[in-house]
Amino acid sequence: MSILRQHPWRLCANLSRSSRCLARFNSTQSTSSSVSSGQSSSQEPRTVSFGFRSVPADAKESMVKEVFDSVASKYDLMNDATSFGVHRLWKDTFVSSLRPGRKGPLKCIDVAGGTGDIALRILDYARENYADRETTVDIVDINAEMLKEGYRRFKKTMYHNTPQIAFHEANAQIMSQFPDNTYDIYTIAFGIRNCTSIPDVLKEAHRILKPGGTFACLEFSRVNNPLLNALYDQYSFSVIPLMGTVLAGDRDSYQYLVESIRKFPPQPEFAQMIRDAGFSTGKDEDGGAWTELWGGIASMHKGVKV
Ligand SMILES: C[S@@+](CC[C@H](N)C(=O)[O-])C[C@H]1O[C@@H](n2cnc3c(N)ncnc32)[C@H](O)[C@@H]1O
Repeated sequence: MSILRQHPWRLCANLSRSSRCLARFNSTQSTSSSVSSGQSSSQEPRTVSFGFRSVPADAKESMVKEVFDSVASKYDLMNDATSFGVHRLWKDTFVSSLRPGRKGPLKCIDVAGGTGDIALRILDYARENYADRETTVDIVDINAEMLKEGYRRFKKTMYHNTPQIAFHEANAQIMSQFPDNTYDIYTIAFGIRNCTSIPDVLKEAHRILKPGGTFACLEFSRVNNPLLNALYDQYSFSVIPLMGTVLAGDRDSYQYLVESIRKFPPQPEFAQMIRDAGFSTGKDEDGGAWTELWGGIASMHKGVKV
């Protein structure tokens, strides 16, 4: 992997003020040393998983940033190539399950939003189905390179230079610049498994959502059918890193991405973590606390702030 690049700049594209600012890196960036899935931040273990490796907890964030720095410019292309475009269907299903705009304009936040796939779908869905041009989405990501790709992409849309979209560089675990009880919907897609402390992400999600607001996570999860699982394993570990080498010139980042999927907690365990953060969920079953897509290759988890 390439040498770690630091980002001294914070990209702030607050289109509601019709301006794009590049402000100096500030305290909204954290170097959290909190812990990985299933453990509370007070326990402070010394290592966490980075794919199949154990790494010092305070090193993971930089290592994940390095992965996404490396893949940012090819991220959308690689997503299409490695999933044969299926990620688009999953994201469509995820967003339409939330029906943004149905009950009027919403204030949404898409965390680990990367190049803006979910945010764009939320705005399109609300506009196309409910003629809603007032729903807003704040895209948050720790990685300036990913945000820049997203910003470039939104420049080509009708949402550019409108109050409907804003970009923020911040850590999902420490969202101090976002006030309590602010959002109707919090989405995080294929992002939470990359965070050092899942409980800290969930705690912040709960804090910034309004009472009655929805937490919605789309993430790779566990395949329970043994045959499908064997095929999926074969594909993930042989084909995806190879595609990373050929299409993006970066095997290591794609190796990490497939390993991180296997380290993410199974559906019932993650559902429990969501409840532990104070959300109410459906029953612990497919169609309840979570909905499986393609046999559990991915799952949508939801919780309501009570
Ligand atoms: C696999 S991409 C997903 C991007 C987008 N949500 C999508 O579905 O296409 C994961 C994103 O999570 C971001 N990320 C990783 N750790 C983060 C953290 N602690 N806080 C905020 N974003 C983070 C990465 O920079 C990257 O953009």
